[in-house]
Formats: sequence, C-alpha cells, structure tokens
Amino acid sequence: MTEDLDKAGLLRRVRELARERNAVLLAHNYQIGEVQDAADFVGDSLELSQKAAAVAQDVIVFCGVHFMAETASILAPRKSVLLPDPGAGCPMADMVTGAEIRAWKASFPGRPLVCYVNTPAEVKAECDICCTSANALRVVESLPDREVLFAPDRNLASFVARRTNKRIIAWDGFCYVHNNILPRDVRAMKERHPGAEVWAHPECRPEVADLADRVLSTGQMVKEAPLSAAREIILATEPGIIHRLKRDNPGKEFYPAHPTIHCFNMKKITLRKVCRALEDMAPRIEVPSDIADRARGAIEKMVRL
Ligand code: 13P
Ligand code: SF4
Repeated sequence: MTEDLDKAGLLRRVRELARERNAVLLAHNYQIGEVQDAADFVGDSLELSQKAAAVAQDVIVFCGVHFMAETASILAPRKSVLLPDPGAGCPMADMVTGAEIRAWKASFPGRPLVCYVNTPAEVKAECDICCTSANALRVVESLPDREVLFAPDRNLASFVARRTNKRIIAWDGFCYVHNNILPRDVRAMKERHPGAEVWAHPECRPEVADLADRVLSTGQMVKEAPLSAAREIILATEPGIIHRLKRDNPGKEFYPAHPTIHCFNMKKITLRKVCRALEDMAPRIEVPSDIADRARGAIEKMVRL
C-alpha cells in the first residue's frame, strides 16, 4: 500500500500512523529534506539524545544512523526505537569494537576514556563519559585527570587537544565524509566566493579547521547562522544540513565545501521507509540489557553536563 502513495500521500500516512502508534519522529540534521520536513524534531547528536530521553511517546522513529538509534534505546529502554533502514550504519563508529577498546584501555591504566557518541553500545559500555561534537571540550575539561583517552575520532580529538592543557591520547578513527574534505576544496570554494565565511565541523582534518572562521557542531551551525553577520557561508560538513539552513535563513547563501561528498548512510532513510517502519513497527533497535545498563551511565553523565 505504501508503494502506491505519492509524496503528499506518504506524508499524510506517516502522520496518521505516528498518531495511531503514539510515535515521535526524530531526525538528524544530515537527513534528506523530505525526512527533515516530516520530523517532529530535527537536531544534532546531542539534541537528539536529549529529546530521546525526554519525549512522552511510546515509539521513537529514529531518522539517523544506527549508533544514534542505539543511544535512544539505551536512554529510553521502555520505548520501541525504530530505525527505518537497519543498514544505515556509521563507518566511523565501526572503526572500534568492544574487544579493541578493552585492550586499548588496559594498555593505559588509570586514564579515563571519553567516547564520542559515534561508537557501538558495547564501546560506550567501557567508557567513563560520552561526548558529542557539541560538548567534547566541555566533557574533557570536566575530568580531573591530566591525561585522557579519546575514541574513535582522531580529528575531534585534535580539535579538543588544541583547546585544552590536558594530554589527549586518541584512537585512530575518522569520518570519511569530513576527512575527505581537503584544504584545496576549501580554498577553491573561497576563490569562487571570496566574501563567504568558512564554517567547519570538528570532524574535519585540522588543516581544514585551520582555514575555517569557525569550527561548529551541526546544532551550533543551525543556532549561529541567523545570528551571524555573514551573508554567504561555505560549510565543511555533510551537505544535508543546507536544507534546514536555507529554510531558516532565506536571505543567506550556503555552499558545500566539497561538491560531491555525502554521508550515504544518512541518505538511506526515506519517507517511504519511515512509513513502512511505522506500519510494520520494525526494524527495531534493541541493546542487550547488560550492555545498555553499563553504557547508560556514560551517556547520562554527558546529557547532564
Ligand atoms: P553532530 O550532529 O553532533 O554535529 O554530529 C555530526 C555527525 O557526523 C553525526 O554523525
Ligand atoms: Fe558517521 Fe560521518 Fe556519516 Fe556522521 S557523517 S554518520 S560520522 S560517516
């Protein structure tokens, strides 16, 4: 039945099913436009975790990638969390496993471990506190220790290391989307738009961050765009965010720093798959309770900070 509906019909059906199932639709800033437009809330990783912990509905349809749906399920264990495409993973999160992180931690005894939320639940279960790109520096600074282990994003680790007096010992992971944006891409865009500011995500390489006027998480970009005097902004991040920035700031121009780079996993979620997930109440993301119970403390500590 879902297959016969056009876009407007799908949207109506999604709304109707969401009401029937008592579901809320949460979407990440990198989702495709039709999914962002259908969502009850669009945000960055931190905002979405906070929402998942606070919403009253019984069902969360998570329009994002697997680790985000896992985080929602850990924070709201009595709710059903649906991920409309179970293949929407995050290659960076998959760069570290529970066994690998246990061995790494053991080789640095006494140091606390900070885990980016872009990790599997089994890795979060091993860490002292989680962070997102919006609060990584604050999280690291909140620890009393002088040396801190940080996994898995080496670029976010370097962003923090340049702003703290603590020694950051980093795992060698990266986001292929942000890591593939090179200084020459940013310079080429600057030549085409000389009046534009450059805003980079902290998952970018340090050499790209060095060319940026500001380094901001996606949620910070959304908040800062209407406040900024810049009329043109080059964004060194996943271009999905431009949908929302354009809608919220009609007088401004936003350009992707790289013309073709996308997070293919984020784009796997479509309105049709959201509709099907609500019809079938599947695919459901569940985290084994022993892992979820150990990971919850580290995520809640971050959400409270
Ligand atoms: P934020 O939305 O927290 O900035 O994260 C970006 C990201 O790459 C999520 O996968
Ligand atoms: Fe993972 Fe990068 Fe995609 Fe975010 S943008 S989900 S970090 S691959």
